Amino acid sequence: MLIPDDKLLEIKDAASIAEVVGQYVKLVQKGRNLLGLCPFHSETKPSFTVSPDKGIFYCFGCQAGGNVISFMMQYHRLSFAEAAQELARRYGIPITFKDLGPEGAQRAKKRQTLQEIVTQAASFFAATLKAPEGKAGRDYLEKRKMTPEVIRDFHLGFAPDEWDGLKRHLTNRGLSLELAQDAGLLVAKAQGGYYDRFRSRVIFPIHDRHGKVVAFGGRIVGEGEPKYLNSPESPLYTKGRHLYGVPQAQEALRKTETALVVEGYLDLLALRVHGVANVVATLGTALTREQVRLLKNLAPKAVMVYDGDAAGSRAMRRAFPLFAQEGLPVRVLPLPAGMDPDTYVFAHGPELFDSPWEAAQPWFAYLLDELVKEHGLDIEGRVRISEELRPYFQAVADPVEQALWLKVAAERLEVDEAALRRSLTSLSPITKSRLSPVKLDVNLEKRLLKWVLNHPGAAPVEELEDWALDLEDQELQEIMALIVRSYREHGVLDHGLLIQQVEAEPLRQQICALTLGEEELGGPSPECMAAHWRRDFRMRRLKKAQQDLKARVDQAVRSPDNEDLMALLAQQQEIARQLEALKQVSTTKGEDG
Ligand code: CTP
Ligand code: MN
Repeated sequence: MLIPDDKLLEIKDAASIAEVVGQYVKLVQKGRNLLGLCPFHSETKPSFTVSPDKGIFYCFGCQAGGNVISFMMQYHRLSFAEAAQELARRYGIPITFKDLGPEGAQRAKKRQTLQEIVTQAASFFAATLKAPEGKAGRDYLEKRKMTPEVIRDFHLGFAPDEWDGLKRHLTNRGLSLELAQDAGLLVAKAQGGYYDRFRSRVIFPIHDRHGKVVAFGGRIVGEGEPKYLNSPESPLYTKGRHLYGVPQAQEALRKTETALVVEGYLDLLALRVHGVANVVATLGTALTREQVRLLKNLAPKAVMVYDGDAAGSRAMRRAFPLFAQEGLPVRVLPLPAGMDPDTYVFAHGPELFDSPWEAAQPWFAYLLDELVKEHGLDIEGRVRISEELRPYFQAVADPVEQALWLKVAAERLEVDEAALRRSLTSLSPITKSRLSPVKLDVNLEKRLLKWVLNHPGAAPVEELEDWALDLEDQELQEIMALIVRSYREHGVLDHGLLIQQVEAEPLRQQICALTLGEEELGGPSPECMAAHWRRDFRMRRLKKAQQDLKARVDQAVRSPDNEDLMALLAQQQEIARQLEALKQVSTTKGEDG
């Protein structure tokens, strides 16, 4: 636990789950709960459930679940402390380092130091670019036709051709070399000590959306491998969660309301040299859902401008479903074969990017073109195309848009629209199983937990504790123990807090599923249920004892001089009697069975 429970309760009470989730998901009332389309997987029928009473959410489609803090964690990919801090900030609840607990405070401090180190490193690289040692970098950037404004705005730098340039700079400032290694700036030597990771490379600092440096890319200035060297992940930098050039593009993105998405540092900077400023870069890795979300916060629509080759086309295609899932309209600006935005803009000028949305192709049309190019329009080709279209088609959330694309595709492939619809909407075995709602196994233990979660106070805590010992399923036993703890420490069962105490994701999902899953209709009263569980558990314990005994008796029979046999048989009889008595009770009191 990083944050004390009472602070968490304060945050959870202030930040109503309905209000927080409602900012990202359209919710409608259904009974005591709220229902909406799940933000964590793509669906057309809502199975994302929020319980304002219990302060938790659960998706019956993809099993995502948790409380208001876990929602923020999952939606924005934050750490627990970050999510709690963000909510505390929004709702005006003061949190201090002390509230983060010793571990959390330590982590926050480490982050602060790392930030100082990478910021210092960025200054060092920028200064080196201007210094005599930076000549190779200046020459290279000149060759790539970078302007002084772009070099300044993007804080470009140069790592000198030395083994300890940065190391000395950091040492002089009393910064931890060990943390500089964590930040991926220094490499530890086998015989002890460190050396610079980036040497003789042009440095592109990567900034977060607030303009803080979080990582670096370094390009070799001559021939050699690797062409680019990038910072590894660190507490400041997670791949797939950042885009290059965000703070520099923000103003232009607001004005143009269109984000150009390119792949490379120099693609972005070349556009920038030509005055095209509404552009961010993915840095050559597959676009992630988090990056699409980030984009969505930056501009209402996006245009992808990737390299004009097979790799660029594949990379764009892979990204389409993410845009569809996030509901961010996207188009494609295809470049001539063999060109990237950098070579294109220097060869043809920036006109193409004046009104990129208008110049670009809708993604589905682009996809269809590419598939036709790839497979041709003979019968096999068309069958293949309809197969490959399927996942894309299903990713389109809007039924009207789906219908319109269906028509376009049917015409292009010269196939009957109804047949194509059947093919495109049929579920492949994988998606079918992935999207089927969670099956609540209604075995005894699960039913008990479900009952306990939904009827707070119906059984005394001592009894819950007792039952916990009887549960065979490890997970369920753990949940029961947490429930007991919640009662003991807070006097109540707080579902939101319960979830907070669970580290393991499956366990958290289980709690949500059990709490929010359908109630069995016409269930008996809590008192009857408690009696029922007591009996069921007793019976189970007896049956288990019976099995154990049977094994021991078998053994005793085989080893002739065992005197225990008689005693064991007596015990066996006693258990059989007790079981019989219990069965009598349950058949006479049949109304709650
Ligand atoms: N990239 C990388 N590591 C590599 C190659 C590429 O991290 N070995 C990333 C870089 O962020 C690069 C982007 O992928 O900017 C696009 O790669 P590529 O098209 O090969 O590079 P360009 O940006 O075109 O760079 P240049 O024009 O200098 O060749
Ligand atoms: Mn290039």
